Amino acid sequence: MIAPILLQIKAMKEAGNHVTTVLGARIKEAMILEKEAKEMSDALYVATDDGSYGYKGLDFLKELLKKEKFDRCVVMGPVVMMRDVSEITKPYGIPTIITLTPVMIDGMGMCGVCRVTVGGKMLFGCVDGPEFDGHLTDFEELIQRQRQMLPEERLSSLLWETSGGCKCGRNKA
Ligand code: FES
Repeated sequence: MIAPILLQIKAMKEAGNHVTTVLGARIKEAMILEKEAKEMSDALYVATDDGSYGYKGLDFLKELLKKEKFDRCVVMGPVVMMRDVSEITKPYGIPTIITLTPVMIDGMGMCGVCRVTVGGKMLFGCVDGPEFDGHLTDFEELIQRQRQMLPEERLSSLLWETSGGCKCGRNKA
């Protein structure tokens, strides 16, 4: 989720913070808004899962945290990545805020579909989040819960593709 992090960068800069941004993507072609992030940040690092652009993976963060002091870390993106970043920042005691984007049904804390365990308490992404303490979040439970919907997501994706997909024309090759 690169796009929403730009709003965080902007807000932090406007509040007078020194902002170091790390943009991550699966592959080089998926890296977006790098120029915009660079203009807004005091320092920018880029990384890809396959190493096709910038650093390969997140290991470089361990070296970065050894060299520089950070007061806060804000992470947005896939749950597994947010878990990994939270594990990296934890030994350094850097408060780490994750942003969850779970499936939601009622958005009122009643259906329970977006629930997450944080610090041993059951909370809801819709009414208690979307931001949570990454060091207190039960990521293993969260990942398990995400996987419960995988068959339905795959079916939905297949139905969408076989129906001709998006009609707006933007996704045509
Ligand atoms: S969407 Fe139903 S409890 Fe959050």
